[in-house]
Amino acid sequence: MSGPVLPGATVGVLGSGQLGRMLALVARRMGYRVHVYAPGSDSPAGQVADREWNADYDDRSSVATFARGVDVVTLEFENVPAATVEEVSSAVPVRPGQKALRTAQNRLREKTFLHAGGYPTAPFREVSERSALEGALREIGAPAVLKTAGFGYDGKGQARLDAAEDADEAWEAVGGEAILESRVDFEREISVVAARGVDGSFAHHGAVENAHDRHILDVTVAPADVPPEVEREAVGITRSIFEALDLVGTACVEFFLAPGGKLLVNEIAPRPHNSGHWTIEGAVTSQFEQQLRAVCGLPLGGTGQARPAAMANLIGDLWSGGEPDWEAVCSLPEVKLHLYGKAEARPVRKMGHLTAVADTAEAAENMVREARERLTASA
Ligand SMILES: Nc1ncnc2c1ncn2[C@@H]1O[C@H](COP(=O)(O)OP(=O)(O)O)[C@@H](O)[C@H]1O
Ligand SMILES: [Mg+2]
Repeated sequence: MSGPVLPGATVGVLGSGQLGRMLALVARRMGYRVHVYAPGSDSPAGQVADREWNADYDDRSSVATFARGVDVVTLEFENVPAATVEEVSSAVPVRPGQKALRTAQNRLREKTFLHAGGYPTAPFREVSERSALEGALREIGAPAVLKTAGFGYDGKGQARLDAAEDADEAWEAVGGEAILESRVDFEREISVVAARGVDGSFAHHGAVENAHDRHILDVTVAPADVPPEVEREAVGITRSIFEALDLVGTACVEFFLAPGGKLLVNEIAPRPHNSGHWTIEGAVTSQFEQQLRAVCGLPLGGTGQARPAAMANLIGDLWSGGEPDWEAVCSLPEVKLHLYGKAEARPVRKMGHLTAVADTAEAAENMVREARERLTASA
């Protein structure tokens, strides 16, 4: 195995959204150069990178030239086409690695992998044709959720079915290769963001609690208010999944906590996750620094949490009455503003987030929610 990719080297990033931006910021702090590759210019990551490639993922000659100019490559967007990742892999190491990407890119492969490994999930069935939908619904029972197998995020490509009568509408909305899964009547949603190094080392940021609004993450509170044995189990499952996928980098496992304390794995994100953004202020090493260290083959950093933290997303809707009142949040001493540099505030677009740290998780959550309200209070 070759040695670590040290400061001064160039890290390549496939994808150019906010996850790449926050990775690039920490990479530059640590003395690395960053090249990002994605279609589209003036992107969140491109704005802070040394070089921004604006080319399609299937432009093989640009992909090959990009790969020759960097020392290691990671992804900030799991839906980069497999052929692109393969092309890059022939020139330079790509982490988290093919198995993790291939598995997490497709919900059917992901759920099949989880089921085969004995990890607990909600009951599910493959539905690749309209005619299979009623049978699958009979087998797993209503209510259920139909989810597109590929390219879903932030609740896109999902439809709820309460009865067989909803089948047409759900198929219309989702269509194609899909899975039908039982709708879980969960008590809480939690996630574990963690990292695995080239040498198999593992470090986690504990279990955090996530509240969603319209299927999009809204607020994360760290740590989650769950019994220690639930957190231990969630972390253990996460570690085991990372090992089974031979994953190198930062990734996240999302869970439903069902009544009675039973954990079900919802999905795997093979990259930093929105529910780990609080680690920038709230942990000794952020999920992005951990990603950088892992993909570069450096030792992982400490994940100790100094104080409880909470994160609230800033979604495009907040701009509907004009520019939010940034001064109002900057006047709160323990609230930090993150904006991703996106030019246009569309309704469900993630534009930025706020983080608050406090003496208790409850105080951090209250503070971050209040801060977000202040943004539009004068509108
Ligand atoms: N089977 C389910 N039962 C209950 N709620 C669900 C289920 N699947 C998804 N959801 C809700 O929708 C959110 C987004 O779904 P998810 O499968 O995580 O897709 P993505 O995050 O890729 O859009 C979940 O965090 C959860 O709040
Ligand atoms: Mg999710």
